Amino acid sequence: MSRIAVVPGSFDPVTLGHLDVIERAAGIFDELHVLVVHNPDKSALLPIAQRVSLILDSIAEADIEGSIVVTSWSVGLLVDYCTDVGASVLVKGIRSQVDVAYETPMAIVNRNLAGVETVFMLPAPEHAHVSSSLVRQVAALGGDVRPYVPRVVADFLQR
Ligand code: PNS
Repeated sequence: MSRIAVVPGSFDPVTLGHLDVIERAAGIFDELHVLVVHNPDKSALLPIAQRVSLILDSIAEADIEGSIVVTSWSVGLLVDYCTDVGASVLVKGIRSQVDVAYETPMAIVNRNLAGVETVFMLPAPEHAHVSSSLVRQVAALGGDVRPYVPRVVADFLQR
């Protein structure tokens, strides 16, 4: 039986930290779905379709191998998407104890709702300080975001 996992997130925009986790997860699972979900708690920079497009371009640019689907989800619970595509695992990148505290209640609720397990993965330490919100702030103020995001994303933000 093939093992399908979902990497959900706002990806506004996708960072090198996200890409690192996507690459590691793609090497473990038979099929990986990178799922862009609107997070109502955050004020968005990019439209959802643009985020999907930048993730696709970043995966191609990094030449990441594996069976990877990139799409978005706006109707219902995240676990409903998992059930629809037969995914039994959610993958979340963990940079610090702050992320553990943020992710733990969601992991427990998602398991209670639909039996979907959450796997925490550690990105490379050099990406531990990178976040989309930091990138949005640096980009908005005209700073150089190239150390934090794939080249296609930096080019897009610069335009
Ligand atoms: O990148 P983010 O913003 O930290 O991602 C958060 C996200 C989108 C994964 C989270 O908000 C989420 O899971 N939303 C889906 C809504 C849902 O199913 N909620 C109930 C269970 S936690």
